[in-house]
Amino acid sequence: MSEPIIALDNITVSFKQKKRTITAVNNVSVHIERGDVYGIVGYSGAGKSTLVRVINLLQEPTSGSVVVNGTTFFKHDANTNDKIRIKNNDLRLRRQKIGMIFQHFNLLNERTVTENVAFALEHSKLSSKEKAQKVADLLALVDLSDRADNYPSQLSGGQKQRVAIARALANDPEILISDEATSALDPKTTNQILALLKSLNQKLGLTVVLITHEMQAVKEIANKVAVMQDGEIIERGSLLEIFAQPKEQLTREFIETATNIDKAIETVGHQPIVHNLAENAVFVRLSYVGKTTDQPLITRLFRDFNVTANILYGNIEVLQGTPVGSLLVILQGTPQAITNAIAALNDNEVDVEKIKGGQSL
Ligand SMILES: Nc1ncnc2c1ncn2[C@@H]1O[C@H](COP(=O)(O)OP(=O)(O)OP(=O)(O)O)[C@@H](O)[C@H]1O
Ligand SMILES: [Mg+2]
Repeated sequence: MSEPIIALDNITVSFKQKKRTITAVNNVSVHIERGDVYGIVGYSGAGKSTLVRVINLLQEPTSGSVVVNGTTFFKHDANTNDKIRIKNNDLRLRRQKIGMIFQHFNLLNERTVTENVAFALEHSKLSSKEKAQKVADLLALVDLSDRADNYPSQLSGGQKQRVAIARALANDPEILISDEATSALDPKTTNQILALLKSLNQKLGLTVVLITHEMQAVKEIANKVAVMQDGEIIERGSLLEIFAQPKEQLTREFIETATNIDKAIETVGHQPIVHNLAENAVFVRLSYVGKTTDQPLITRLFRDFNVTANILYGNIEVLQGTPVGSLLVILQGTPQAITNAIAALNDNEVDVEKIKGGQSL
């Protein structure tokens, strides 16, 4: 495999307070490949922002090593106390190649859209004519050319975030860190911004680090996911691995919220047919990934096992080209027939989770 564009190894970040030490990030290693859209998901306080601020040394770690694009920014071995840190001048240049966007946009309210973006080029060696062209190109890239002379107060949240993205791209970064950039936006605008980030990833080969507390955002554009809790990465993998086979309870929670299955289970659970579940019935959730969906499994359950399947809810996502499905189903038949049917489903790589009934199985 090629060298990761971002390599964080054994990163620990502790904050010393008067009485106690808070360990915001605890011995985390994460390698991000060039061209990844790498989602980092976790609840508030998990340590996400602290971890990504380490990438450009806005936050110096207590220990661990930070290597970006092959350059060691920082390395501190807690055992030997050896420490290496990039020189400030060098860091300043390298930071220009790492763009950042945030929840609250951080625009200058007294300056126009054009001036906000041009501000990022203040130290650039371009001529003023080149700068003006660059700003115009950036505004076109984020589809905001018609707002060039507006002030931030004249823009919607989504438009403000587009300005922030244009500004973050001014120095042609290779990495864009998005820290909850869509958290203040409505769902439709969120999707537009996510689509923009994905197109920048594809068009410019930009590596995107996407921090969020919403798996929904990750699901839209990430190819890899890490789940953070209490300063640690508790689970990681490709988007498909994480959605198809989440191992940790917290990961499941995030996914269930993103796929709406949690709401579906609750809503469907209140329907009389589930509420007053027949004695020979069991309410289950079927989950499957990929080609399993080509097979007429539900039909087979009746034909081969004499088990009826009443589908109450279905959700199929296509993640990186692979279908991932969840069905809420009432299976009905004799206990033996249902047991056989579930075994057949499992044989076909359909995961069956009992939600209600079926005590005799
Ligand atoms: N400068 C600081 N001094 C002391 N504690 C800090 C500092 N920065 C962060 N922390 C603590 O570190 C922990 C992780 O914070 P962090 O901001 O990284 O979490 P987060 O996952 O980004 O949360 P959110 O989703 O709310 O942004 C929290 O307990 C926070 O209070
Ligand atoms: Mg944060």
